[in-house]
Amino acid sequence: MILVLTYIIWIYIIKRYIVHFWKMFQTRNWNYDKKVKNLLKILGLTKQFGEVTAVDEVSFQVSKGEIFALLGENGAGKTTTLRMLATMLQPTSGTAELAGYDLVTQPEQVRSRIGILFGGESGLYDRLTAAENIAYFGRLNNMEDAQLRERIQELTQTFNMEEYIYRRAGKFSKGMKQKVAFARSIVHNPDIMLFDEPTSGLDVSAIRNVHEFILDCKAQGKTIILSSHTMSEVEKLCDRIGIIHKGRLVAQGSIAELQEQHQGKSLEDIFVELAGEKR
Ligand SMILES: Nc1ncnc2c1ncn2[C@@H]1O[C@H](COP(=O)(O)OP(=O)(O)O)[C@@H](O)[C@H]1O
Ligand SMILES: [Mg+2]
Repeated sequence: MILVLTYIIWIYIIKRYIVHFWKMFQTRNWNYDKKVKNLLKILGLTKQFGEVTAVDEVSFQVSKGEIFALLGENGAGKTTTLRMLATMLQPTSGTAELAGYDLVTQPEQVRSRIGILFGGESGLYDRLTAAENIAYFGRLNNMEDAQLRERIQELTQTFNMEEYIYRRAGKFSKGMKQKVAFARSIVHNPDIMLFDEPTSGLDVSAIRNVHEFILDCKAQGKTIILSSHTMSEVEKLCDRIGIIHKGRLVAQGSIAELQEQHQGKSLEDIFVELAGEKR
């Protein structure tokens, strides 16, 4: 009896190892760990533009399914940090690990696991239809045509774009463009979403749409970093916050943790104390 039991336990352990190594091989990810708790590890990330140190040894971690906000004033280094994480800009030093892949040595793998929605213009091609705009991004992420067709159908339903999915984007209303931009950012079903000031310059209902989209991404288990300079936005959406000032991360934690460290002050007061103009 005991022998049989030992035998079964051994088989179970060996099977787990085989599955583990198979997953590592399949994903070509030698750091594969199915308990990747910290889906994002940022390790001393630094960017220098000539004399200016835009991002200075920034380190933080974000767990799977968490929303982390980078809160900072204009010029603090938010966009530069996010552009490095999006593989659009090479770090001067430091690195990050996204979904187990190294930003500096495995940028291709990182790119296919991140979705990007940067504020400002939606960046759609006016002469392409909504579907073509989405497909273009899918192809950039190595999606195959059959898979893309299916995914676009799914996204068309999700965002109620049936009426205009095959129309050119040039004459779309802002709301329509926004939906296409949302769909495009998740066409390849990324694990990690990067939002750079996603609501800056938008009107009230457009802001609401963005917030809903971000919370939907979270509900689907995506890990999210967003940058903002709006306290209320950060308070409403985020699990944890990093306050960035002159390229340095000067505080991080949940709102409750930050308040505990600062005698129960409001987030706004803490922010002004750590990263206000006079600092
Ligand atoms: N391409 C660039 N060349 C030179 N300096 C830059 C460049 N991009 C950003 N900077 C500088 O880096 C600092 C951080 O900018 P940025 O990351 O855009 O801040 P934020 O997004 O928080 O407003 C600023 O001082 C900015 O002027
Ligand atoms: Mg910016």
